[in-house]
Amino acid sequence: MATQPSDLAGKVVLVTGAAKRVGRGIALALARKGARVAIHYHTSAEEARATAAECGGAELFQANLENVAEIVRMFGEVETRCGRLDGLVNNAARFTGFDPLEIGEAEWDWIHGVNLKAVFFCSQQAARIMRRQGGGRIVNISSLGGILPWARHAHYCASKAGVIMLTRALAKAWAPEITVNSVAPGVIPFEDIDAEGLRMIRRTPAGRGGTPEEIAEAVIYFLEASNFVTGQVLAVDGGLSLG
Ligand SMILES: NC(=O)c1ccc[n+]([C@@H]2O[C@H](COP(=O)([O-])OP(=O)(O)OC[C@H]3O[C@@H](n4cnc5c(N)ncnc54)[C@H](OP(=O)(O)O)[C@@H]3O)[C@@H](O)[C@H]2O)c1
Repeated sequence: MATQPSDLAGKVVLVTGAAKRVGRGIALALARKGARVAIHYHTSAEEARATAAECGGAELFQANLENVAEIVRMFGEVETRCGRLDGLVNNAARFTGFDPLEIGEAEWDWIHGVNLKAVFFCSQQAARIMRRQGGGRIVNISSLGGILPWARHAHYCASKAGVIMLTRALAKAWAPEITVNSVAPGVIPFEDIDAEGLRMIRRTPAGRGGTPEEIAEAVIYFLEASNFVTGQVLAVDGGLSLG
């Protein structure tokens, strides 16, 4: 993956949090494009094995991404077992609602440790490998919550706004070899959707929630694009960010 657009066949792409839900959808779409998907998971071992099998026997990597030493270990294993790393999709994240008056240090760190700190250190580890190889692609999954303020999710919104700025700053830092872009999903509903999520879907101009496949299509665009596309944020949200 150097300066020109290239297809994903044979490329090694690590997707974090890929056992289920959106991450699984991204992994499956990459496998359909012929990529050698590397699947990271934390606690969902069974689902990760199932996703790996669906991807045609993808490599599995377990790590708690809150811990930088575990991140460093995991990227070492990726390089050893896969031989290279062409793409990284930072998908793993946490989400929860709190009255901002009630957020303590533990709640703040619980969100930021995965949503922002891990995105930085995973990107750093990936970029060191990609630099040695001559190039690569990083896609960060941010959120509509990094663009619009949600009162009960101030800490989550701050973490995802951080991901968007990290995307832009790292794109500048690591050009021209490595591109860094972000996909910002709107509501991607699963069986645990709550009343707030349903209200947001009703306000979505597209008239529905999105699917993991729709997020994956945007991820694939950034992974395949030339290095003339970097530092960008693509909201895939059915128009909800239009206000
Ligand atoms: N779903 C939506 O409506 C929506 C909307 C906007 C943005 N997004 C963003 O899209 C991405 C995917 O969304 P999702 O709903 O599919 O996410 P999710 O199910 O909430 O989380 C994805 C994965 O993150 C992993 N994870 C959590 N804590 C971790 C830790 N300490 N170390 C390593 N991995 C950890 C979990 O892995 P294990 O299960 O293996 O523990 C989990 O399966 C996220 O970045 C999310 O913020 C989603």
